[in-house]
Amino acid sequence: MTASAAVPAFDLVIFGGTGDLALRKLLPALLHRHAEGQLAPGTRVLGIARDVIGDDEWRARVRGALERANGSVTPQFIDEFLRLLSYSALDIEGVAGWDELRCWLDAGVGGERVRVFYLATSPNLFAPTCEGLRTHGLIDAHSRVVIEKPIGRDLDSAREINAAIGRAFDERNTFRIDHYLGKETVQNLIALRFANALFEPLWRAQHIDHVQITVAETIGVERRGAYYDGAGALRDMVQNHLLQLLCLVAMEPPATFDADAIRDEKLKVLHALAPIDASNAAQHTVRGQYRDSAVAGSQARAYVDEVGRRDSRTETFVALRTQVRNWRWAEVPFYLRTGKCLPQRVSEIVIAFRSVPHSIFGAGAGALVPNELVVRVQPDEGIKLWLMLKSPGPGGMRLRRVPLDMSFANAFGGRQPDAYERLLLDVVRGNPMLFMRRDEVEAAWRWIDPIRAAWDASDEAPRPYAAGSWGPSAAIALIERDGRTWHEEQA
Ligand code: BG6
Repeated sequence: MTASAAVPAFDLVIFGGTGDLALRKLLPALLHRHAEGQLAPGTRVLGIARDVIGDDEWRARVRGALERANGSVTPQFIDEFLRLLSYSALDIEGVAGWDELRCWLDAGVGGERVRVFYLATSPNLFAPTCEGLRTHGLIDAHSRVVIEKPIGRDLDSAREINAAIGRAFDERNTFRIDHYLGKETVQNLIALRFANALFEPLWRAQHIDHVQITVAETIGVERRGAYYDGAGALRDMVQNHLLQLLCLVAMEPPATFDADAIRDEKLKVLHALAPIDASNAAQHTVRGQYRDSAVAGSQARAYVDEVGRRDSRTETFVALRTQVRNWRWAEVPFYLRTGKCLPQRVSEIVIAFRSVPHSIFGAGAGALVPNELVVRVQPDEGIKLWLMLKSPGPGGMRLRRVPLDMSFANAFGGRQPDAYERLLLDVVRGNPMLFMRRDEVEAAWRWIDPIRAAWDASDEAPRPYAAGSWGPSAAIALIERDGRTWHEEQA
């Protein structure tokens, strides 16, 4: 039995229906929601792309993708789900296909029916698609648009995209996805902070020494070299996912659990970030690029070979140090790092508390390690609170660091839904809480642009690191200079 309520029948139009995002993420996510009974009868999905193929060919491609992605869903549900799907060829910048789209939309019964236009396309098509929808009169009062990052490559281009979308859709009908916000553990950060009295009194500079946010990936750029080489880790990961995590850690308690109340608080955090620019980028940032693995026999190739550009200076790793300049966080460093081809796939937030003010224990008790709260976003989602306790048995007071360990899989059981499952249905429900508001996206770029500009103006290339290592040694030095170390899991 599902604990989630069904949503009324809706129409979903996926531009970029034959692409990677649609096949690998969106359609498998919808299939799961269908298998859990959340899609009401009458729900329809239309795939759109330029390829002139028919419904059957598209369904066959989708079936292949679903079978690869969904071990747990039975063939019967896949068959049922495929019956919701149709396909229509359309040339976004031309005239072909718009009438067919109109016919398909008109065939949807019910005046209150929600229409979702999901732009799973390259961002340079966001503006023409919205313009096409508008000029062809396909946007009604129940229409919503969904876009994915990258929303621009800097503040100016983000503003242009936002303005183009804004000419067709109201802000309340515009859903900008940051899929990190759909991850269960990320939502649990809000629960942890605001549904428990325990942490709030400690959640401030008086008790917290520093915060670390790590999003590490083992994969390289794979087939996304063309996009990635023009973006780099700062734009691809920091501007959105890492800053969103930082905002959820640092924001003030919103007065209500309401989309704008939360987004207002996040925006204030972005405005309070200490600027990094040409005057201090060398001190507060490290960027790296992976080279061949140092491990004999490893298949990992250097980034420049993967993208086929020997002179590329695109960073695949970033570590940086910033602060949130307000009363709660005065002088507390926030260390952020992310990279590709690192040794472990792990996304986690570490709240490192201050040391006890005075130790009553003698040297024989061992070192007192300050408490840490670790929120593991993925994999092995859960929360650990590291404490100092006495080792059992004789031998006097010997202290040991041990975790209070809460694994979500053990506590809640079942499958952890993919972020897109939640996000897609939130769009249909019209709940924008887990989506980025226009001003948030722009504030994030406003903070990122001077870092990018400082790097571009510098003669230095990104520092090389061996694929499979934790990034350039300068990233370790960045935090060790402050007398701290990156968190490493140890029992
Ligand atoms: C995407 C980035 O937004 O997030 C990718 O463009 C990255 O480069 C991905 O690999 C990571 O997402 P996840 O959910 O696998 O942590």
